[in-house]
Amino acid sequence: MKNSQFKEKYGPYALVAGGSDGLGFAFAEAAAQRGLNLVLIARQAERLHAAAERLKAAYHVDVIAIAADMADFEQVKERISALSVSIGLLIYNAAYAPIGRFENTSEERLSLAVDVNVKAPLLLTKLLTEPMIAQKRGGIVLMSSLAGGQGSPNIATYAATKSFNAILAEGLWKELKPHGVDVVACCAGAILTPGYQKAEKIKPAPGTLEASEVAEQALNALGKGPIVIPGIVNKIGRFVLTRIMSRKAAIEIMSKNTGGLS
Ligand SMILES: NC(=O)c1ccc[n+]([C@@H]2O[C@H](COP(=O)([O-])OP(=O)(O)OC[C@H]3O[C@@H](n4cnc5c(N)ncnc54)[C@H](OP(=O)(O)O)[C@@H]3O)[C@@H](O)[C@H]2O)c1
Repeated sequence: MKNSQFKEKYGPYALVAGGSDGLGFAFAEAAAQRGLNLVLIARQAERLHAAAERLKAAYHVDVIAIAADMADFEQVKERISALSVSIGLLIYNAAYAPIGRFENTSEERLSLAVDVNVKAPLLLTKLLTEPMIAQKRGGIVLMSSLAGGQGSPNIATYAATKSFNAILAEGLWKELKPHGVDVVACCAGAILTPGYQKAEKIKPAPGTLEASEVAEQALNALGKGPIVIPGIVNKIGRFVLTRIMSRKAAIEIMSKNTGGLS
């Protein structure tokens, strides 16, 4: 799709939840390159404002920075509802991963994963699709993960929340299509982001992609289907894990990658 068509279909503003760093920043850049103005949300104000300034200077778009925690959805809703701009694209990128054995993970950390990875993308999608449906155009990108394709030991809760996003996107893809609203879940494998590099102290997994490649492939997938799996290695990996192997075997394979995480 040409940038002008993208802007017409998904502009004038893209909201990136978790847009100040890593993949979120790459999503913001990819949207700005297509001519969209931005609303960026992240918790750390200084890094958020620095990201906003960089994007304004590089792409000559308007950037509204909202320092807020996606775990506090009521506050986020209030801040977004107070804006007088029209949001045609939602990219939900923020996530929280309680890594480690389930028995050692506190109730607070489990609740936080549900608040940031399930409640917030669900309710933000609800909030923003209403005006999109009225305007008969718009797009939603929900970040999922290959980890959400089957049970993933030691990141079991994170993986389950990512599965929620993929299944939600599939249903909404069909349901909102007649209203002109495109929905896609991005089931990514490993991405070279600060978050990933912090968690994976060893060498990157096969098929690891740059954040910019994942953002490009996800935005280009809007309107084409309910799921995008960036990268050929990841496409094959997901096919084998979810379509060829038994669930038990797929969980075993995941366990070899995630079982040692702490
Ligand atoms: N990295 C990977 O290998 C990988 C693989 C598969 C899927 N994914 C998915 O891709 C997405 C990006 O993951 P990532 O860890 O690599 O992150 P990232 O895009 O590098 O950065 C996280 C961004 O989200 C913001 N953020 C985090 N928690 C937030 C919260 N509670 N409220 C508001 N903003 C928040 C951060 O800023 P503040 O810290 O200032 O809030 C930052 O801007 C996630 O949905 C993840 O599940 C990642």
